[in-house]
Amino acid sequence: MVALNGTFAILTGAAQGLGLAIARAYAAQGMKLALMDVQADKLNALADELRAGGTDCLPIPVDLANADATQAAVDQALAAYGKPRVLVHNAALLKERSMLEVTFPQWQTEVNIILQAAFLLAKAVWQPMIAADSGSIVFVSSGSGIKGFVKEVAYCPAKHGQEGLMKVLAMEGQPFNIAVNTITPGAPINTPMSAENYTEELKQKWVDPALLAPAFVYLAGIDAHDVTGERLNAWELSQQHPIA
Ligand SMILES: NC(=O)c1ccc[n+]([C@@H]2O[C@H](COP(=O)([O-])OP(=O)(O)OC[C@H]3O[C@@H](n4cnc5c(N)ncnc54)[C@H](O)[C@@H]3O)[C@@H](O)[C@H]2O)c1
Repeated sequence: MVALNGTFAILTGAAQGLGLAIARAYAAQGMKLALMDVQADKLNALADELRAGGTDCLPIPVDLANADATQAAVDQALAAYGKPRVLVHNAALLKERSMLEVTFPQWQTEVNIILQAAFLLAKAVWQPMIAADSGSIVFVSSGSGIKGFVKEVAYCPAKHGQEGLMKVLAMEGQPFNIAVNTITPGAPINTPMSAENYTEELKQKWVDPALLAPAFVYLAGIDAHDVTGERLNAWELSQQHPIA
């Protein structure tokens, strides 16, 4: 396990929900953070909060559905902090729409945020991680990464695509000691996405996403010798690897 203090993380979807919890946990480890999200005000507020606590961080407002903007954002992050120890692609959008309802631009937006951005971000950190002979890439997946759900015409295939991309990159990353994994929450989490999509029954059981942060701290410190090519469960991993 790599000591995290002073290392650098790229984290998407940091403005709220699970991403916000991961950002706070990484800051507590002394990591430098490039934080990306489309919600600029919330992202800047988070950066102010973390800086007040002594964290070196760079908020990068970006629409990850846009390829050029995504590329520019990750270029900015790498220029600021150099080689990343970990990339966590956590941003996602879920709008429940059936095949009858969805338009092609709507479909593209969700797929691009989830899958196109996963490719572009991983592609951008690949060479720096090869040069470092070490690194960890994490795509935040979902039950929708392995199962179909009605009205998830875009989200579900995009999450399946992340699982496929992970499997290939894990194989190609192995010789360079780059770990590539997906992770599913494994527990209902109290986030804005859940507030929009959960049933009342599920909301009775949801937990603070901060309870899943230990899994992401663990994954920030691994490389391909530890675990790669796996679909992990954040709830279980957090029990197995509590923050010291
Ligand atoms: N909430 C759940 O129950 C649940 C279940 C399974 C998987 N997940 C996954 O966990 C991750 C975090 O989910 P959450 O519940 O915290 O969701 P959330 O909606 O609360 O947070 C997602 C973040 O992604 C950002 N984002 C959305 N579109 C973007 C864009 N175009 N460009 C940049 N950023 C954008 C949002 O602004 C937001 O800050 C997601 O990948 C989600 O698919 C969540």
